[in-house]
Amino acid sequence: MERFFFVAFRLHFPPMDQHQASSRIRDLTAELNEHNHRYYVLDNPIISDAEYDKRLRELQDLETDFPELILPDSPSQRVGSLPIAGFEPLTHTIPMLSLANAMDEQELLDFDARIRKDLEIDRLDYVIEPKLDGLGVELVYINGLFSAGSTRGDGFNGENITQNLRTLKSLPLRLRNNKRPIPPYLEVRGEVFLGHKDFEQLNQTQLDNDKQIFANPRNAAAGSLRQLDSRITSSRNLLINIYAAGRIDDFSVDTHMDFFQALKDWGFPVNDRYELCSGIAPVIAFHKQLEADRESLNYDIDGSVTKVNSLSLQDQLGIRSRSPRWAIAGKFKARQEVTKILSIEPSVGRTGAVTPVANLEPVHLGGVMVARATLHNQAEIDRKDIREGDTVVVQRAGDVIPEVVKAILDKRPPGSQPYLIPERCPVCQGHVLRLEGEAKHYCQNISCPAQIKGRIEHFVAKRCLDIDGFGTKLVSQLVDTGRINSIADIYSLTAEQLADLDRMAEKSALNIMEAVETSKTADLWRLIHGLGIRNVGEHISKVLAKKYGSLRALGKASADDLEATHEVGPIVARGIVEFFKETDNLTLLTKLVDAGLNPEQDSAISKEGKFVGLSFVFTGKLEIFNRDSARELVESQGGSTAASISKNIDYLVAGPGAGSKLEKAAKLGVQVLTEAEFREMAEV
Ligand code: IVH
Repeated sequence: MERFFFVAFRLHFPPMDQHQASSRIRDLTAELNEHNHRYYVLDNPIISDAEYDKRLRELQDLETDFPELILPDSPSQRVGSLPIAGFEPLTHTIPMLSLANAMDEQELLDFDARIRKDLEIDRLDYVIEPKLDGLGVELVYINGLFSAGSTRGDGFNGENITQNLRTLKSLPLRLRNNKRPIPPYLEVRGEVFLGHKDFEQLNQTQLDNDKQIFANPRNAAAGSLRQLDSRITSSRNLLINIYAAGRIDDFSVDTHMDFFQALKDWGFPVNDRYELCSGIAPVIAFHKQLEADRESLNYDIDGSVTKVNSLSLQDQLGIRSRSPRWAIAGKFKARQEVTKILSIEPSVGRTGAVTPVANLEPVHLGGVMVARATLHNQAEIDRKDIREGDTVVVQRAGDVIPEVVKAILDKRPPGSQPYLIPERCPVCQGHVLRLEGEAKHYCQNISCPAQIKGRIEHFVAKRCLDIDGFGTKLVSQLVDTGRINSIADIYSLTAEQLADLDRMAEKSALNIMEAVETSKTADLWRLIHGLGIRNVGEHISKVLAKKYGSLRALGKASADDLEATHEVGPIVARGIVEFFKETDNLTLLTKLVDAGLNPEQDSAISKEGKFVGLSFVFTGKLEIFNRDSARELVESQGGSTAASISKNIDYLVAGPGAGSKLEKAAKLGVQVLTEAEFREMAEV
């Protein structure tokens, strides 16, 4: 049952004076918090919902009349407040560590043996608890009042999500002090998660509103917690359980069990499925019990966490790399089911990767209905020989996207055919290719609608065309409203089109227009990098810009010529050639050039000199030259250099210690020079 907050009618007449109001507000706040704690933390309410709502309305009326008297822990502060622009970073006083994993029973035994040996102790007490599958957060209380909360982030710095955490109904806004004193400064850590029912309800609402659904409760919790509008967070019924300490001043207990008791005394929600175990055997038994109970819980857990109970022994064991040596996460086995593949469908991602996805006869897998599973790539399909119509085993491993494990061959229908990823993109009809050395097929058309947002985001990024102000959100808005459909469209945008967008000030629109204009004069390597050709990163873009000097020259280069470039191998070369073969890409490049983007770079490779048309490879130890200076010399004289021998190479310059390159040169008939002979040729 869910309590809700609303204001209906006034209960006080005539109005109170300030003094009376202050005292009544204090009483009501304390009383409502007490009921809230009983309802949401202890699951043991003593008044009816109607009674609760009546008191809440009285409080809200008083708060409306005396807003200056609203207390920081008032239950009315849980409904969320106006949206914020973004989250501020927040540094954790003590880093939030991660946990080492035990994949099976043996690894739990190894963990126990290892730390007992270090501590020279025969038997250790452990506490085992569920590993909640949500998001790690930290809460800070100053003098008992909730004052800040943050995400785990990278463990060192998280994001300040205080406003959102404040809306969680089981999170105490003020700590209780009737059982034990409250430390002046207290940090605790815990997990925010979403129950299965609320997850399903949320997805139904998303569907009803034509919005994207969440893949699992964890993603839904993450999406809810990272809302800039805390009123949305407030509507999501997020749960929180506390399980660890950060910095706590003026407080000490001896064991993790005692710490849990302190947490409960202060009013924190603690998951009650924990157990004190003497030695590792009962830990393993409890882990198995948790695994068996997993399906009947109404929230996701993805394993167990076992912690050394004694805090002084925890201290002795300390930390290794980024996880404590006194704790371990016990993983559960992946959950599997048998179902049937109705069809296989190629799905195109933001990078152009084409992933085969199996449409399944829906099946329950660990509490979630699964109707689609990834087949990863063609090689995986071939290896497992998975076909349309097959009866298959599916699993959720680590609670990511479900995957097809294997086909049950006895049940294969007659006449089935091996599945092949189509040669044309299902979204744009562009060519779909798998390049040598790559696992995935890619749609080669960079204006493919499935890729367009990702492509534009990359193009405008700092390390590419560096168009300031052109963020993810703007790209999304522009594509969704049909204002841009390809990279080239960036250059035909008008200030009016930009200013028309939601929340775009005229000034920012002009700034963006200016940044777009400036990008036309960007260096060639930035443009090459911005095109997002497969395997052509920033460094290779610089190498190519230097060698070819213009996009036109790069587009004309043959695979052989590209491969004869130092640092460019066959895979990169093929990617470039395929890119320039795709007609849609050529149309796009023409548009970019027409828009005024046509950077040229003085090619470092001279058009004249002794080595024009000749290519060199260097190997072994050189006496006078180092590799770089030898390479520069060749290029300054119009030649080119490469890292490996192919039939396109004219000379191999080999110093002492030269290895396999010599043999390869002999096989391919490439002439071999000593360093002295090379110097003679170069006349240096
Ligand atoms: S203890 C030093 N206890 O698991 C370890 N973590 O992989 C402090 N988690 O980031 C964490 N349930 O978000 C602990 N009962 C539990 C947990 C738990 C889930 C998460 C937590 C942490 C991650 C570590």
